[in-house]
Amino acid sequence: MKDAAPASAPETFYLKDYTPFGFEVVSVELTFRLAPNATRVISKIRFSPKPGAADPTFFLHGEELTLIRAAIDGTEVTPTLTDTGLTCDVPDTPFTWEAEVEIDPEGNTALEGLYMSNGMYCTQCEAEGFRKITYYPDRPDVMSTFKVRIEGDEKVKLSNGNPTGNGAGWAEWHDPWPKPAYLFALVAGDLVNHPDSFTTRSGKEVELNIWVRPGDEGKCAFGMEALKKSMTWDEEVYGREYDLDIFNIVAVDDFNMGAMENKGLNIFNSSCVLASPDTSTDANYERIEAIIAHEYFHNWTGNRITCRDWFQLCLKEGLTVFRDAQFTADMRSAPVKRISDVIDLRARQFPEDGGPLAHPPRPEQFQEINNFYTATVYEKGAEVIGMLKRLVGDDGYSKALDLYFDRHDGQACTIEDWLKVFEDATGRDLTQFKLWYSQAGTPRLSVEESYQDGTYTLTFEQKTAPTPGQPDKAPRVIPIAVGLLGPNGDEVLPTQVLEMTEGKQSFTFEGLAAKPVPSILREFSAPVILERETTNSERAFLLAHDTDPFNRWEAGNALAREARIAMILDGAAPDADYLDALQKMLRDDDLDPAFRALVLSPPSQSNIAQALHEHGHTPDPQQIHDAAETFAQTLAEQLADSLPRLYAATTVDGPYSPDAVSTGKRDLNARILSLLTRLDGGQQAARQYEAADNMTQQYAALSCLLKAEKGAAQSQAFYDQWKGDRLVMDKWFALQIATAAPEAAAQIAQDLTGHALFTLKNPNRFRAVMGAMAGNHAGFHHASGAGYRLLAENLIALDKLNPQTTARMCAAFQTWRRYDADRQALIREQLQRIAGTDGLSRDTTEMVTRILDA
Ligand code: PHE
Ligand code: ZN
Repeated sequence: MKDAAPASAPETFYLKDYTPFGFEVVSVELTFRLAPNATRVISKIRFSPKPGAADPTFFLHGEELTLIRAAIDGTEVTPTLTDTGLTCDVPDTPFTWEAEVEIDPEGNTALEGLYMSNGMYCTQCEAEGFRKITYYPDRPDVMSTFKVRIEGDEKVKLSNGNPTGNGAGWAEWHDPWPKPAYLFALVAGDLVNHPDSFTTRSGKEVELNIWVRPGDEGKCAFGMEALKKSMTWDEEVYGREYDLDIFNIVAVDDFNMGAMENKGLNIFNSSCVLASPDTSTDANYERIEAIIAHEYFHNWTGNRITCRDWFQLCLKEGLTVFRDAQFTADMRSAPVKRISDVIDLRARQFPEDGGPLAHPPRPEQFQEINNFYTATVYEKGAEVIGMLKRLVGDDGYSKALDLYFDRHDGQACTIEDWLKVFEDATGRDLTQFKLWYSQAGTPRLSVEESYQDGTYTLTFEQKTAPTPGQPDKAPRVIPIAVGLLGPNGDEVLPTQVLEMTEGKQSFTFEGLAAKPVPSILREFSAPVILERETTNSERAFLLAHDTDPFNRWEAGNALAREARIAMILDGAAPDADYLDALQKMLRDDDLDPAFRALVLSPPSQSNIAQALHEHGHTPDPQQIHDAAETFAQTLAEQLADSLPRLYAATTVDGPYSPDAVSTGKRDLNARILSLLTRLDGGQQAARQYEAADNMTQQYAALSCLLKAEKGAAQSQAFYDQWKGDRLVMDKWFALQIATAAPEAAAQIAQDLTGHALFTLKNPNRFRAVMGAMAGNHAGFHHASGAGYRLLAENLIALDKLNPQTTARMCAAFQTWRRYDADRQALIREQLQRIAGTDGLSRDTTEMVTRILDA
C-alpha cells in the first residue's frame, strides 16, 4: 500500500488498496515478564497460510521493538527487519511462530502500546499500538483468540476475557472471543476495586469491577450504576447480552483519549469514570454516564462485529455514538440531549467539514489513522445513522439491526455490509444514501415558500461547497422533518418527513385555511445548514409555539445569533424583542429548567465568527467578544429586579444528586448567577462559593468570580483545597484561562505553563491549559498573536513526547482562513514554524500540512 512519495514523506494508505492478510491466525499466546524499562514479551502464534492468497507475503508489523529471538516450529529463524516490521520465509503449511521482544514501558510517553502511568502498567492498542508490543499482523480484519500470562509482582494483573489461573507472581487470562489486536489490553499495578455483579436476562452471572488507585475507591459508585444501566438497556433495546464471566474497568490518569473498549477490560481516562459530588460537576457526571455506556455498547458494535480496515472506523464509532445518545435520551431528557448534541456538532463538526480538514465519514486515504478519530467520523457518523433510521422508520431500523447482529457476528465489516442489511431488511435502495459516507462537507439547504388558494409549497435547494479532493458533489438524500403551524399557533400539520433526493425539489401541502408558519428540520433531522430568509417575528412565534422542542430552541438560537450579528455589523442595540422573549422564557416556570438554561445560553463566539464568515464578512474576535458582553450586560440590567428571586427559586438545596432534573436546575441557576454577578460585583457568587457543598456550585461560583476579576482569593483557596486532586486541578488550570479577558488570556496561560503542577506528560493537564487557550476565542485570536505563538511553542514541545495528542490539538488552527489577513499571516507563521521543526512526528506533519495546504 505504498505511495510513490519521496522517502522522507510519510506513506499514504488508500481504501482502494485493501488486500486481505495471506494467513489465518489460529491462536495467540502471549507471556509478559514485566519490568519498567525492559519488559519481555514472548509470543507464540499459530499461522495457517490461506490457499490462493492475493498477497502471500509474511509481513508482521512491529515498531520500537528489540527482537531477542524468533523461531518457526521450534527452529530459530532470522527475519528481515524494517522500520515498520519484519518479513520472513515461512512454510506453506500451518506453523507456529515464536518471538521474544523487549520493550520499554517507562520510556513510552506517547501512551500507545504498553506504558506506565503512576507506576501502573497499562496498554492502548487502538488503532495501531499493538505493533509496539510485539510483531503481529496488526490490522482489524485479523481476528484470533488470545491466551495471556502476566508475570510480575504487582498485586493486580488483568487482561481480556476470563481469568484462568493465578499464583505468586503470575496470572493467566483467556479470551474465547476472536478479536483483532487493537482490542488487546493488559493492566498491572497495585490497584483496588469497587466490585459488583450483574445477572444477564438469560441468567448468566457477571462479575463487575472498577479498578482504581488506592484512595479513589469512593469515586466508583456512579460509574458502576451507569454500567449496570447500560447492560440492562442494551438487553432491552437491542437484545444484546454480555458474553464473558467478568467485566473490568480500569481508571488511568495518563490517557490520550476518553476511554477504550478493549474486550472485557475497558480502560478509562480517570476523568471519564471517577465521580464524587465534591470533585465532579454535573457536566462530568453526564459525560461519565455517556462514556461508560459508549464503551460498554462497543462490546457488540465494535468488538463482536468489528471493522475490516480503519477506513471503516465510523462503522463502529458512528453506530456506538448513536446508541449512547439513544441511551442518554432514555435516561435523561430526549430534547435536552438532542439540543446539546446539535450545539456540539456545530461547534466541532461543522468547522471541520467546512475547512481544510474536511473528510467524509468514511475517508478514502490517510497517513496517520490516529488523525481520523474526528467529530466527522464519530458525530457525523452518528447523524448519518439517525437519518437512516428516520428514512426506514423505527421498525425498519430494528429489523436491520437484528439482521446486522445475526449476519455479521464475529466478522470484520464494511459500510457496504452495513447498508446491505438495511436494504435487505427494508427493501430500500440505498445507493444514493451512501453518498453521506463518501462525500465530505455540510450541505446548505435553502428554502423558498409560496401559498395560494389553500396550497402551500416549500421548495428546497441543496448545495455543498467543494472540500479537499472533492470539487463537485452530487445531491444527497435529505430527510427533512416538517410541521406546519397556523396563525394562532396551533399545529395544522404534525411532523412529517419529506425525502429530498434532487438538487432542487418542491413539496406541496393542500387544504390549508391560511398561510402556515413552517417548522423545518424538526429534531434536526439532517446535519445540514438551513438557510431560510425569515423575520425575527416569525422566529419569536416559533419560539413561543412550536411543538417540536428542538425547533423551539432553534428559533431562539437564531434570534440570538441575528441579534448579535446586527450589533456587530450595524452597531445595533441588543434586539428588544429578543430580550423580551428571553425574559418571558426565563420566568416561565412551566418550562423545563434544563431547556430554559439552553435557551439562555448564548451562541458561542466561535459560532458567531463562523456565521459571519458564512455571510461573507470577516469576523473580528474582539468585536464579537464585546457584543457578547454588551448583550449579557443589557440582559442582566433589564432583569435586575427579578434576578435575586430567580436565583433563589432555582437554587437546589439538600444533598447533591446528579439526576437530570437537579442538573437542569443547577445549570439554569448558574446562568442566573452569572447575570447577577454583573450587577452585584460578585457578592452572591462569593456567598455561593463559601456555602457550596458540591463541585458544581463551587465551580460555578468561582467561574463567575474569575470572570468578574473578583476571584483571586477564592482561586487561591480552591488551589489550597484541591492541589492534591489531579482532576480538580485540571479544572483550576482551565478555568483561569477560559474566564480571562482577551488581552490577558495568553499571558495567564503562559504563566500557568510555568506552574509546578503543569506537565507535558499528562494529556489531561495539557488539554486543560492549551484547550482552554484555544477555546477562549477572543483571547486565542487576540491581534498580538500571543495566543497562536504560545500554542505553537507548546505543540512543538509536546510533539517530542506525545505525537497523538499534539496532532489532535493542531485542529485549533483549522478555522484560520475565516479571519483577516493579519491574523492569517500570524497563524501561517506559527503553522510553518511547527511544520519546520526537526524530527516532527508523522501525526503532526500530516495535520499541519493539511491545514496549511487548503
Ligand atoms: N475507540 C475509543 C472509543 O471511541 C476511542 C479511542 C481511540 C481510544 C483511539 C484510544 C485510542 O471509545
Ligand atoms: Zn467509541
